[in-house]
Order: sequence, then structure tokens, then C-alpha cells
Amino acid sequence: MGYSEILLFILALCLCGFGLLLAGRICMLDTIRKPLVEAAFGRKPSRQPVWFLRQAGRYLPEYREIRKGIEFVDLCKNPKLAAEVTIQPLRRFDLDAAIIFSDILIPPTAMGQTLTFGKGHGPMLSNPIRDSKDLKKLEVPDCGRALGYVGDAIQETKRQLGPEQAMIGFAGAPFTVSSYMIEGHGTKTYTELKRLMYRQPETFKGLLEILAEVTVNYLAMQVQAGAEVLMLFDTWVGNIAPSQYRSFVAPVMELMIKQVKRDHPDVPIIYYPGQGSEMYPEIRSLSMDVVAVDWRVDLGLAVDKLKANNLDVSVQGNLDPQLFEAPLSYLQEAVWDILAKGKTARGHIFNVGHGLLPHLDPEAIGAVVKTIRDQE
Ligand code: CP3
Repeated sequence: MGYSEILLFILALCLCGFGLLLAGRICMLDTIRKPLVEAAFGRKPSRQPVWFLRQAGRYLPEYREIRKGIEFVDLCKNPKLAAEVTIQPLRRFDLDAAIIFSDILIPPTAMGQTLTFGKGHGPMLSNPIRDSKDLKKLEVPDCGRALGYVGDAIQETKRQLGPEQAMIGFAGAPFTVSSYMIEGHGTKTYTELKRLMYRQPETFKGLLEILAEVTVNYLAMQVQAGAEVLMLFDTWVGNIAPSQYRSFVAPVMELMIKQVKRDHPDVPIIYYPGQGSEMYPEIRSLSMDVVAVDWRVDLGLAVDKLKANNLDVSVQGNLDPQLFEAPLSYLQEAVWDILAKGKTARGHIFNVGHGLLPHLDPEAIGAVVKTIRDQE
């Protein structure tokens, strides 16, 4: 055999190997269809997907054990421990997803604000944004560099997931994050936010736009690290009027989701407009795949309302987390009702309609997962 034949032979071998690899990869993609991703896109999942908002947290004794030795923000910044608490609920329950352990207020820490949790009160952010001077001081971080620990925690978590379990990345939606950045803490009245919105609308818009830019960058970093589903939390958006959503929030959300979808068309986006069923007409222009429904709304009515607004989306939700306190038979009725109503949507991801609360009994959560699995 001459020199050129040997080269040709090696080339043919390489091509064969490459072909086999490609075929294997296509086969894998074909067989491993994650139920959560399928339901999000409105395709038929192999089983009913279920996970819980705040499924990692203080209701789990193993979480409290880790938190004894570390502050919340430091836990978020420690990829090994963050991955550990992310996985904890999946060891206990047969869930279809892990949501990375972090907080919607982590990105502002890379923009020049300091996040603390004082004893007895919720999150606090330093240097609240009250005028254009404050806005100019904000940094627009490279999230890969400044928040890379979140990506590292995603990678670490993914190594521990089953092939059908999906990795969820998340961010707060700009409006909800802006409420903490402006007020400096949680609020019932939104006085500072509304003052800024009415008196300095350009500054308020500017803040939402900066947050949208940071969020697109932050979500892209999470997808690169391995997130397969993205969720945007707009927990407090029910505190402004629909007309205000239309003029301030919708344009920013629309552009942001479009940008994420353009770069990551295979990654479904779940949008949670908290107490926001009044906003369904306003979110018509957003291209999310799933709308998460809070527990205050009947899921069947929410599906009808989404359809009436030409929103071709799947739904997620919406058990009242306090129902875990109810007797089992009562709880099971509620689960069956939600499962039946979920079937009227193009796809349904079972979840709670608000985060799990610290006093809940893990046994009750296990009973709900079992009730869902027994239906199949
Ligand atoms: O398991 C998960 O769902 C992932 C992690 C996650 C946390 N916060 C962890 C957390 C997620 C997705 C969030 C989102 C979040 N954070 C939202 C939107 C969703 C919602 O619940 O409506 C909001 C508004 C925040 C801001 C925030 N962070 C609040 C209001 C609190 C609670 C304060 C308290 O003392 O209860 C936090 C703290 C927080 N975030 C905890 C956890 C597990 C409790 C921390 C602890 O004390 O150990």
C-alpha cells in the first residue's frame, strides 16, 4: 500500500467514526425527551412533569443543616454547596427538574448593590436607585465573569441529574428585580417605585432596559453552563396597573424574550406573572412557551383566559402551598382537580402556585408526588 492509500484509509476511518458519533448523538436526542421540556413546548411528555417552586429550602432538615454553617448569600456563591442543596429535594422526591439554587437578587450584587438578609426581615439591597445619577452608577457586568459561580453550580448539579430530569436556570424579570433595587427591600406599597415611574419615567425605563440587558447575558451564561429550561420570575408585577405594564414592562419583556429565543430556540421559557392574570391581554406580544399560574386563580379559568387572548402556551401550576397542611384526601382532590384542568391546556407542568413555605412537612410533598404518579 502506498503512502496516499494509507492516508485515504485513515481519512475513511475518521469519517466512519464521525458518522457513528453523529448517529449516536441523534439517537440520544431522539430517545431522551425530557418530560418538562416536552410539556413546555406543547408536545406529549412520557409522564406528567412535576417540580416545586422553592423546592430547595428551609422546609428540608438537610437544607437547614447546611445553612447552620453558612449565610444564604455565601451559599449561593459556593458552587459545590449550591449544587448540593439544589439536588436535595430530588433525592427525596421523584421530580422532573432541578432549579438552580440562587436568588433573583444575585445579579444586582454584580451591578454595585450589596445583598443582605437581616434577622427577621427579607432581602435588603444597598444603594437604592432613586434618580438618574444612581442609575448611571450601576455597572453592566459580564455575567460569565461576575456571576460565573452560578454557571459552575449548574455544571456541578447537572452531573448529578438523571437523563430525563431537566436543569432549570432562572432570573427575576426586570420589573420585580427593579422593585427591590429601587425600594432597597420588599414592599407592600411600592411608594418609591411608583414615585420614580411617575416622576422620572425615563430613569425607570432606563433601569428596566439595563436589567433586561444584564438578564439576557445572565440567562445565556446559564444555558452555556447547561440550563435546559429558563424561568423568569415576575412575582410582584400584579402591583401595577395593566396600562403601566403595557407602557413600561411589556416592551422590555418582549425584546428580552425575543433575544433569548433567537440565541437558544430549543430552551423553553416559563414566565411567572405573580397575581397577574389581569395581565394576560398585556403579555400577548411576549413569546414565552409557558405561563406559570399563581394559586389564587382557578387553573381552568386561567387556561380559558390565555386561549381567549390567543396565547398559545403551556401552563405551570398551581397548587396553593398551604394545601400541604390539609388532610390527605382534601389535598388529593385538589391535585386531581389541577391535573384535570391542566389537560385543557396544550401542555401542563404540575407545580405550586407560590414557593414552598418553611413550615411545610416534606412528607406531604412526597404524598402529592405519589398522587400524581399513581394517576399514570
Ligand atoms: O428552590 C428554588 O426555587 C430555587 C431557589 C430560589 C430562591 N429564591 C431561594 C431562596 C428562587 C427561584 C428564588 C426566587 C425569588 N427570590 C423570588 C421570586 C419567586 C418567589 O418566591 O416569589 C423572590 C421575590 C426572591 C427574593 C427573596 N429571596 C425573598 C422574598 C426571600 C425570602 C426571605 C425569607 O426570609 O423567607 C429570599 C430568600 C431565599 N431565596 C430563601 C431561599 C431558599 C430563604 C433563604 C434562607 O433563609 O435559607
